[in-house]
Amino acid sequence: MRYLLVLLGGIVCGAVLAFIAANTLLQRDAYPRSVMQILQHHVGALRQARRRGDCGLEGLRRHWTGMANLALEIDPAFAARAPEPAFSETSQRFVRLMTTLAQSPPVDCATLDHAQAQINEACEDCHRQYR
Ligand code: HEC
Repeated sequence: MRYLLVLLGGIVCGAVLAFIAANTLLQRDAYPRSVMQILQHHVGALRQARRRGDCGLEGLRRHWTGMANLALEIDPAFAARAPEPAFSETSQRFVRLMTTLAQSPPVDCATLDHAQAQINEACEDCHRQYR
């Protein structure tokens, strides 16, 4: 009986510790993952706009500035996890691309297509190596 209680106690303690550990890991990842999720949101919104043929400048402006600002967050967000200089270079390349696009956003569907191709390439470029 006593051994059974000790065993049960061990199982409960283990479960509680595992829960705490998992929670801590999730919280530590909250910042970088949120940056990525919001980037994904903007990419999706742009894709929908493209599908509607609504490639014009004004309505989409917040997506371009939003992504340019988020690009600046990538390096600090991942600083604890990916301290390699090569990661910073990759994220700086993305910052430059998004800054350029935010400064002169696409004006029609042809330039939007080109911008989207560049963005996809940039996301993939980093994910291939670090995701
Ligand atoms: C400089 C590097 C870098 C760039 C650029 C980048 N990502 Fe990421 N992304 C990552 C890393 C690293 C992860 C893995 C994060 C993790 O597993 O916690 C990730 C994960 C993600 C995730 C999954 C997030 C989650 O909840 O686990 C999404 C969605 C995502 N990226 C979207 C994008 C999109 C869209 C772009 C381009 C507009 C982009 N990323 C550009 C590095 C980058």
